[in-house]
Amino acid sequence: MKFNGVEETLFIPLAARVLISKNYPNYFLDTKSLELENLEQVKSINKKTNEYLTFASVARYYVFDKIINNFINKNKDVNIVSLGVGLETMNYRIKDNNNKFYSIDFDKVIDLRLEILGKKENETLIKSDILDMKWTEKVDKNKATLFVVAGVFQYLKEEQILKLITNLKEKFKNSEMIFDATNSFGIKRAINYVKKTGNKNAMMYFYVNNEEKFANLANVELLEVYNFLKKLEKY
Ligand SMILES: C[S@@+](CC[C@H](N)C(=O)[O-])C[C@H]1O[C@@H](n2cnc3c(N)ncnc32)[C@H](O)[C@@H]1O
Repeated sequence: MKFNGVEETLFIPLAARVLISKNYPNYFLDTKSLELENLEQVKSINKKTNEYLTFASVARYYVFDKIINNFINKNKDVNIVSLGVGLETMNYRIKDNNNKFYSIDFDKVIDLRLEILGKKENETLIKSDILDMKWTEKVDKNKATLFVVAGVFQYLKEEQILKLITNLKEKFKNSEMIFDATNSFGIKRAINYVKKTGNKNAMMYFYVNNEEKFANLANVELLEVYNFLKKLEKY
């Protein structure tokens, strides 16, 4: 299967989850990702990256999983919608309960996901550009909904993200979103990190220098800001 630059980035966080699960299972253990440790792309990326950056990448899942679990505990019967799902194994790490998982990505990515991860009973796979709002018709709008955007917004422009947030806010009255972003300094390092893994075609644009300013621009309530790397230093 041939991927474009952005689609191909899906192997990078998978490789990170494999490496850290193998070397630091007390910190983070993702047994579903570990099943994919022999994928050529995973092996090739893990030969080229360094452990600190890999750790930083996985810190995102460590924090996101806690937020997702809190959201489920608070709201019970919920939608967890992963925008740009790639080969994310979150729905294997998070307890099932009555949650519904929606996994959205480009056609080829969803085909690959189905081929190598299969599909859980409570998961709906949606082939779509996340910016094309037609996909929202497939999601139950009466449930509390958490949008999970891991390692995706970097590849979009700020105006695209603002429009997406406005559209989602309009359609899903009871919803929250978690996403990761660096500041303008970090985005330069992130671009180098992705290049180092061998992907020279995935350009990154979006960063956040001031969270409150961004929340104001998006016209949303800022619930919490986490510094993944700070949490890592304490570990
Ligand atoms: C770095 S990967 C992250 C994958 C996954 N979220 C994870 O954490 O493992 C970026 C993913 O976002 C997807 N993506 C980027 N822009 C997208 C868009 N406009 N619509 C749908 N998927 C998109 C790519 O195809 C890729 O699977």
